[in-house]
Amino acid sequence: MINDVSVIGLGKLGGTMAGCLASRGFNVIGVDVSEKAVNALNAGHTPAQETGLDELIQANKQRLRATLSHEDAILNSDLSFVIVPTPSDERGAFTIQYAAYAFEAIGKALAKRETYHTVVLTSTVLPGATRYGLLPILEKFSGKQCGKDFGLCYSPEFIALGTVIRDFLNPDFYLVGEFDERSGAALESVNSRVALNQAPSKRMSIENAELAKLSVNSFVTLKISYANMLADLCERIPGGDVDVVSDAIGMDKRIGRRYLTGGFGYGGPCFPRDNVALNFIGKHVGASTPLLEVNDNYNRTISPRFVDKLMPFLRKGATVAILGLAYKPLSHVIEESAGIYLCLALANKGFRVMGFDPLAREEATAALHMHALVSDSLKACLQDAECIFVTTPDEMFTSLKPEDFLQGRESVTVVDFWRCLPDTVLTHPNIQYVPVGRCMSDHASIEKLRGLWDGAID
Ligand SMILES: NC(=O)c1ccc[n+]([C@@H]2O[C@H](COP(=O)([O-])OP(=O)(O)OC[C@H]3O[C@@H](n4cnc5c(N)ncnc54)[C@H](O)[C@@H]3O)[C@@H](O)[C@H]2O)c1
Repeated sequence: MINDVSVIGLGKLGGTMAGCLASRGFNVIGVDVSEKAVNALNAGHTPAQETGLDELIQANKQRLRATLSHEDAILNSDLSFVIVPTPSDERGAFTIQYAAYAFEAIGKALAKRETYHTVVLTSTVLPGATRYGLLPILEKFSGKQCGKDFGLCYSPEFIALGTVIRDFLNPDFYLVGEFDERSGAALESVNSRVALNQAPSKRMSIENAELAKLSVNSFVTLKISYANMLADLCERIPGGDVDVVSDAIGMDKRIGRRYLTGGFGYGGPCFPRDNVALNFIGKHVGASTPLLEVNDNYNRTISPRFVDKLMPFLRKGATVAILGLAYKPLSHVIEESAGIYLCLALANKGFRVMGFDPLAREEATAALHMHALVSDSLKACLQDAECIFVTTPDEMFTSLKPEDFLQGRESVTVVDFWRCLPDTVLTHPNIQYVPVGRCMSDHASIEKLRGLWDGAID
């Protein structure tokens, strides 16, 4: 039975995996090239920000230690998870240079090991990367043979930042790409003791697992874009309301309600790039993948499209406030954030843009330098704003009262991307409330529809 595992790469995902594995009784050795991350874990603290992780690590620190040495980890554990960065390159493909460096160090350590060890790659990679890019590195530097002296799996996680602990311990399923039966069995024996929910395992070839990982994220982005398209349609149909339509179609088991809330574009460190990478590999192998390209374009142009659509509500050169700069609530991550893109699109049109986010202030300040001011406080952000855009349903924003928006002014416009503000704001006589995804002008939309039937009755 495997009791000793390593986690190589103690970042947003790996750091949380280390804490979760320890909480399920495994002795965990964490490895990172960053001394800061190693010291943090050894001091019983989280190496990367994630909700609840500091407490989890504190509670399980007797089963956790960290080191800068890959060799220490490989020699003292029987299975290792590798979760190092795989950044996108200019073509949209994932690079493997960090993984290659880790695999070289692991290979050198395997050369010194006398017993079998299973290496599990968790980082997101393109189909073919594990077998044709990384396995040769392991064999070269270990001088050993995969399947005989050591095992290899590709097994990604399906987690969302902010809920990584819950997602990791309660997966819908385990995706296990295995080099051979023995490698997959070793991983499955660990997984079966990690999941709190007896999640089933899908075992398959490494390449099918690499493809499945990208497909899951890409499919979800298509669903999100579909919901955003529905929201746009609803705004132009008399009485149209995207929540009413989504609640209905979500009842159909083939569709389901999750990720069908129309609002704003998708962002973050996984969804956009996974979609792009799947398109890259599709093109590379000669498959026809136009849906992926259309989806990416649709999502990337969502912020400028909103600015064009909302121009009638905005005074030229006005001060506008964007509440929500991270790609979602409870996160400090601004990668591919629709809120950041909205700031840039508004600044581009000559508006004075103020931004606020409860967690992402530092990151947003750097990204918006010269384009928008990021406020220290919500109050300061709202101070001069004639129009306020609520881009994430953060509790800090949904609990705002009409007087918080008005700040003593006679009137303000509030654009609510998620229709998440309370009725007191919606109905306030001095607030022009603009809910994305709901029809605001029945008259104009009726005229437009009526035009279709002109002449139907002679
Ligand atoms: N963050 C997510 O939501 C998420 C979700 C699913 C998959 N992933 C994938 O997981 C991988 C890691 O993502 P992340 O967000 O945790 O990245 P991250 O940048 O937060 O962390 C990566 C860590 O790996 C360390 N590292 C780099 N090279 C190393 C080496 N050779 N040996 C040991 N440590 C090394 C870094 O110092 C860093 O601490 C990526 O492939 C990503 O696509 C991330």
